[in-house]
Amino acid sequence: MSLSLSAEDPTVPGDATDGTWLECIDCGETFAPFADVRYTCDDCEGLLEVRYADFPTFDDFEGEGVWRYADALPLESGVSIREGATPLYEVPRLEDEIGVETLRIKHEGMNPTGSFKDRGMTVGVAVARELGVDRLACASTGNTSAALAAYGSRGGMETLVLLPAGKVAAGKVAQASLHGARILEVDGNFDACLDIVQELAIQGEAYLLNSLNPFRLEGQKTIGLEILEAFREDYGAVPDRIVLPVGNAGNTAALYKAFRELVQAGELEPAAVPKLTGVQAEGAAPMVEAIENGADEVRRWDDVETRATAIRIGNPVNAPKALPGIRETDGTAISVSDEEITDAQRALAGEGIGVEPASAASVAGLRKLRAEGIVGSDERVACLTTGHLLKDPDAAAAAGNDPEPVPADTDGVLERLADGNSSDR
Ligand code: F0G
Repeated sequence: MSLSLSAEDPTVPGDATDGTWLECIDCGETFAPFADVRYTCDDCEGLLEVRYADFPTFDDFEGEGVWRYADALPLESGVSIREGATPLYEVPRLEDEIGVETLRIKHEGMNPTGSFKDRGMTVGVAVARELGVDRLACASTGNTSAALAAYGSRGGMETLVLLPAGKVAAGKVAQASLHGARILEVDGNFDACLDIVQELAIQGEAYLLNSLNPFRLEGQKTIGLEILEAFREDYGAVPDRIVLPVGNAGNTAALYKAFRELVQAGELEPAAVPKLTGVQAEGAAPMVEAIENGADEVRRWDDVETRATAIRIGNPVNAPKALPGIRETDGTAISVSDEEITDAQRALAGEGIGVEPASAASVAGLRKLRAEGIVGSDERVACLTTGHLLKDPDAAAAAGNDPEPVPADTDGVLERLADGNSSDR
């Protein structure tokens, strides 16, 4: 079964509940959505997607935030802390410098826990409640753990998070900690943490809320719906391209699913679908490798390293959903160096937008693709910035100006000011 952009109506299987079901993207097997806990296909272990008999149009949406799009989601309401409805900033200086017709920044760092993960958790934790599970778990480079801890505690459920020891930014650990998650620091990288959590989930020890969970990606679809609605309103057309950082490729998969559903609803012509453009750090770029080589599968990288710890991932589990998304939309993928990421982080900060390193990868990637002529000067582009600056205060401080010590008197301060700006920025 291919994940293509098609306007054909889906065949509704017998196990659908209220027009909603789970379907394997590999073999097409279908399952009732909330009957049992299941993350992959019983028959072939392929990834599952939530499917619907009917697709809403833009006119059907009302309200604000993720639940504005309830008609496109598996439940009518969730465990909510007012997620979504994030700003889509104009950045005139950066737009000029990069040289595109329009550049807007969708800042997902403005969600309640400071990342896009909240959109997935408001749905995923609600489904967990529906399924009657009591312990929720995830592996995380940090943001998923912060969101799971917050939404789990809001929903009154126990939370367990597995983090790669020493590789999670301070703000994220602090969030998971204060929101009451049990935190296990694993002597291994994120991919090892996910292997373990998947095992725990299969053994029934906890409900898995990584992006392998198809319900979480439903919530993350709403990033795409918000961007498209805003562009239609402001420019009368959807963006030509959406550029985003890629780790597990969950967002890439989720955005592509939103586009496919809009095509099925008759709201979007296949040719008008924005080009999905993924950006990875050079030290953790297995998706980029697969796109460059035209490969059908992604090779797992065992050794990954980058300053953008949120996307320090060598085994993008949603690749089977995301690769067709990049290809079918005529998009691409590119890797950027840590230096390029930090430069982009500073450029965004210069427009008043504070993001963590992984988020800046989108802008760094766009800059590079524009310089290489792959992105045209006539394009209207939305870049996703996925997490807030305060998530990783150490990276921000390292990228920014150094504080200057001064004595506690005005003359001393004036003297220092007369010396000019001694920062090495
Ligand atoms: N940006 C940030 C800030 C992230 O935290 C993540 C993923 C990504 C981008 C990549 O998104 O996986 O959908 O391609 N963070 C996960 C976590 C892995 O555990 O917080 P993706």
